[in-house]
Amino acid sequence: MEGRPISDLNGKVAVITGATSGIGAATARALADEGVSVVLGGRRQERLDGLVAEIGATSVGVAMDVRDPQGSHQLVATALDRFGGFDALVANAGIGAYGGIMDLSDEQLRDMMDTNVAGTVWPIRASVPHFLQRGGGDIVIVASVAGLRGAGDEAVYAATKFAQVGLAGGLDRELRAKGIRVSTICPGGVATEFAMGAGRFPDMPGLAEMLRPEDVAAAVLTVLRQPPSMRTLVWSMRSIHESD
Ligand SMILES: NC(=O)c1ccc[n+]([C@@H]2O[C@H](COP(=O)([O-])OP(=O)(O)OC[C@H]3O[C@@H](n4cnc5c(N)ncnc54)[C@H](OP(=O)(O)O)[C@@H]3O)[C@@H](O)[C@H]2O)c1
Repeated sequence: MEGRPISDLNGKVAVITGATSGIGAATARALADEGVSVVLGGRRQERLDGLVAEIGATSVGVAMDVRDPQGSHQLVATALDRFGGFDALVANAGIGAYGGIMDLSDEQLRDMMDTNVAGTVWPIRASVPHFLQRGGGDIVIVASVAGLRGAGDEAVYAATKFAQVGLAGGLDRELRAKGIRVSTICPGGVATEFAMGAGRFPDMPGLAEMLRPEDVAAAVLTVLRQPPSMRTLVWSMRSIHESD
């Protein structure tokens, strides 16, 4: 039986939000290792500069805030200017904080909703016209297992992650026929800067047993490498040590 070819990523271009640390930075490095040019988004300029210095001329950093639609337009404009277009968007930027519904401040909750929900919608809206013009593209959303089953002490965070999963399901129905493939990756706990100082701390028990950001990056590469004839709607992945 004839096999389906796995897509070669070499020479492709990817836009990544939340590329300044954790899963986004690991994804940028993994893609760059495969010959993919990367357009890196995040607020911390010094982190962007450091990653661009490490990866080299096939990368460019854009200091941007996903809560502002203009930031995403700037990211896309940079991809067009610098590389002539892009093949994939990895909508990864996100924040979390642990606490009950009455424990977190209005500002913390608003920030979480703006960053995780609006901050996923804006880069997608900025990218879709380009994908439609070029006849296709990949959108990969980094959500969470919290977006599939909820999470105690993280109810609003889980709600934002359910929103991402719902958005992806709708976009799959809307955009698949136009050649745009939408994949959602839902990791369990990942040892990153996520929620540090907001429920997690560097030497907390269990951190070392979580998924590594490189594990999630490998999943992003796997969905991007899929042959054009298939799609992965939701990939739920967890550390072997994580129970429940
Ligand atoms: N770590 C986990 O346990 C875990 C589990 C499941 C899912 N996730 C999801 O994975 C994604 C990446 O998180 P991570 O674990 O890699 O955490 P992280 O190391 O804290 O990275 C978060 C990234 O998002 C960016 N970001 C946050 N707010 C932003 C804003 N307003 N505008 C632009 N960029 C912003 C940060 O960059 P700047 O601060 O430089 O802006 C950073 O690059 C998130 O969506 C998170 O919900 C994480």
